[in-house]
Amino acid sequence: MNAGRRIAVGVTGASGAIYAARTIAALLEQGCHLELVFSDYGKRLLLDELGPDAKVERLADLLVTRYGQGISNGRFVIHSNKDLGATLASGSHRCESMVIVPCSMKTLAGVALGLSRSLIERAADVMLKEQRRLVLVPRETPMSLPALRHQVAAAEAGAMILPAMPAFYQKPQTIDDLADFIAGKILNALGFEQQLFPAWKGE
Ligand SMILES: Cc1cc2nc3c(=O)[nH]c(=O)nc-3n(C[C@H](O)[C@H](O)[C@H](O)COP(=O)(O)O)c2cc1C
Repeated sequence: MNAGRRIAVGVTGASGAIYAARTIAALLEQGCHLELVFSDYGKRLLLDELGPDAKVERLADLLVTRYGQGISNGRFVIHSNKDLGATLASGSHRCESMVIVPCSMKTLAGVALGLSRSLIERAADVMLKEQRRLVLVPRETPMSLPALRHQVAAAEAGAMILPAMPAFYQKPQTIDDLADFIAGKILNALGFEQQLFPAWKGE
């Protein structure tokens, strides 16, 4: 049912590259066709946080090593963040939804203010103007007043603010458990059933 669903994923330079990797892998496992865009600092944080093999040019290898062959259920293309002529820059392109994970305060501001300085910001603006699902996963602490205001502005414009705030009621044992929780919340927000963390049973 999910096979071929076309979803955009923006990866920016906030801490939490593992959230991006887990989300991309989980969407591929679902059979999605992903359109990926990495900012320059998004690429840098992949290397800083996931190690020297975490190069965007070798993304498939990285995902298979970490998450297994299930990622081959889906496929992906990578667009340049400088290419404002890419498919994602137009509302006529049928990309149903977008997540920016992690979302830096800089990109959050650009989305909230509709600046469209990069493909990530433009694609997010397309989601808002077309009234499609846009999920922003901000990560910063503490948060400045501008960052708080930009989240309100983005939410008022129709975005879902899904902060990178893992929960602990599911008793995580590893960093991967924490990443699974956030990726699972993102998949739910995009309308997928997922088993990345157990649903609360009310007990
Ligand atoms: C190691 C490192 C960690 C960073 N962590 C964060 C962060 O958690 N949140 C944030 O908003 N910015 C963070 N930044 C700053 C952003 O990377 C910076 O503002 C950058 O210009 C964001 O650009 P982008 O949104 O185009 O990726 C970090 C930078 C570095 C080098």
